[in-house]
Order: sequence, then C-alpha cells, then structure tokens
Amino acid sequence: MALYTMAEILADAQKRGYGAGFFNGVNQEMIRAYIRAANDCRSPIIIGTAEGLLKYSDFDWLAPLLLDAAARAKVPVAVHLDHTYTYKTIMRALRAGFGSVMYDGSLLSYEENIRDSAEIAKAAHAMGAGLECELGKVGGLDEGEGVKGGNIYTDPGEAFEFVERSGADFLAVSIGTVHGEYRETPRLDLARLAAIRAKVKCPLVLHGGSGLSDDDFRNCIQGGIRKVNIYTDIITAAAGAIRKDTSLAYTDLNEKAEQAMYEAAVKKLRIFGSDNKY
Ligand code: 13P
Repeated sequence: MALYTMAEILADAQKRGYGAGFFNGVNQEMIRAYIRAANDCRSPIIIGTAEGLLKYSDFDWLAPLLLDAAARAKVPVAVHLDHTYTYKTIMRALRAGFGSVMYDGSLLSYEENIRDSAEIAKAAHAMGAGLECELGKVGGLDEGEGVKGGNIYTDPGEAFEFVERSGADFLAVSIGTVHGEYRETPRLDLARLAAIRAKVKCPLVLHGGSGLSDDDFRNCIQGGIRKVNIYTDIITAAAGAIRKDTSLAYTDLNEKAEQAMYEAAVKKLRIFGSDNKY
C-alpha cells in the first residue's frame, strides 16, 4: 500500500470515531512487530521515532527502514517524527519523507511555543507534511539534563488561540497522563478534555499511553482523542520476554522480544477500536 500520512489516518479516525495507535521504534524488530500487528488486526497505524531515541539508532539507517516498512504494509501506515526540540532534526525528517513531525515547545513559554511552532509549521506545510504541537506539558520525559518534569495541564482557553496562531495540525494535550511508568494510578481530567474538544477542531493526541486502563483509553477516545502514543508498554513487554530465558542465543532473544512487542501492540489496537477497519 502507498505510504499514508498521519493527517489521512487521523481524518479517518475522526470520521469513524476510533483512536489510532502511534508506536515509537528504533530497530527492525520493533518496526516489524508494529507492522505485523497492524496487518493482522487490519488496523491503520502510525510508526516513527523521536529525537531522544536517536541515541539508539542512527537516523539515516532508521528513516528508510520506517518508510519502507510503512509502504509495504497491507493497511494504511504513516511515518511520524515524535518529540523533537530542534529545527535540524525536524528538517531531516521532512527531507526524508516523513508525513508529519512533532515540534515539542512545551518547555517554552506560551508565546515562545507559538512563535517556534509557527515557524516550523511553515516549513512542514511547504513540504506537504503535518505538524503536531504540545500545549501544556505531559511530564515524565527526560528533557536534556535528565530532568523529569511534572505535568502542566492544557488550558482549554489557550488551546483554540494556540492552534490558530501556531498553525498546528494536531494538538497533544496534557490531561493527567505522564510518559513512562506511573507511580500512582493516573486520574484523567476528562472534563478538561471535553472543554478542549469543544474549542479545538483539529485531531487531539494523548501522550503517555502506557499504563492506562482499557476504560481510560475508551473514555479518552470517546472524548475526542484520535492518536494515542505508546512506547513504555512495548519495551517493557520486550524486556520481560528476554528476561524469561536469558540462556537463548541473541538472535532467538530478538525473536522472543519481537513476538512480545507484537502481542502488546495487538492488544492496544483492539482497545483503541482501530481493528478491522481495512
Ligand atoms: P509512554 O512511554 O508512556 O507510552 O509514552 C509514549 C509517548 O507519549 C511518546 O510520545
């Protein structure tokens, strides 16, 4: 199937009321697990990587792998660049042919976030690509110096103006999720999500999807979330499979890890309601 863009996939998710899964990868096993899950579930999917993950994989090796795997899939697959803080990495992804990029200005002030996002929107749109931005801050991500910040919830009042002025095509919202493992049970602010949804028409994105309950996912998708980002649950599943039998050969460990990631991804696609769509 031809390569899809995230805009196309999220437009369909919006129309048919499901959530599309976004999965980060750094190697062949991860990417193959996602594509296999998407094919077997007949589910659209978005795959990609993030600036912070490039320490695990060289971009020039990884980008063709992502794009080629997406184009070979039997279902719509888009390639997206997740959390990126620099113009340089954004431009690399646009040049490589990614259909969308995320500029993460959530560590900046509101005005700085709008200013930088608007500049990147111009470049992305000129290349026919879409831009995801974050307003508020979903905590838990290692930002540079190993700082793990907390959450700053998205202000529904600011959300409309932010999207208008930045030119963002997709908006990541902060409603109580965090990246990585939860120390306590997450409590999602669904009223805030509803208030944002009432003001913002572009597709909304939920980061920090790992560790949420099935009901959390269903409530968020019913509340207007169209893209759910998952990473930690996938790498935890892989590590668990490897630890089960460390005496295996490296190549066999890879295979076990891939199978565990495949199963974890399948579970998510079914919960998101994106299965059996193609
Ligand atoms: P988790 O690692 O918590 O699933 O978050 C993934 C994410 O939001 C990537 O942008």
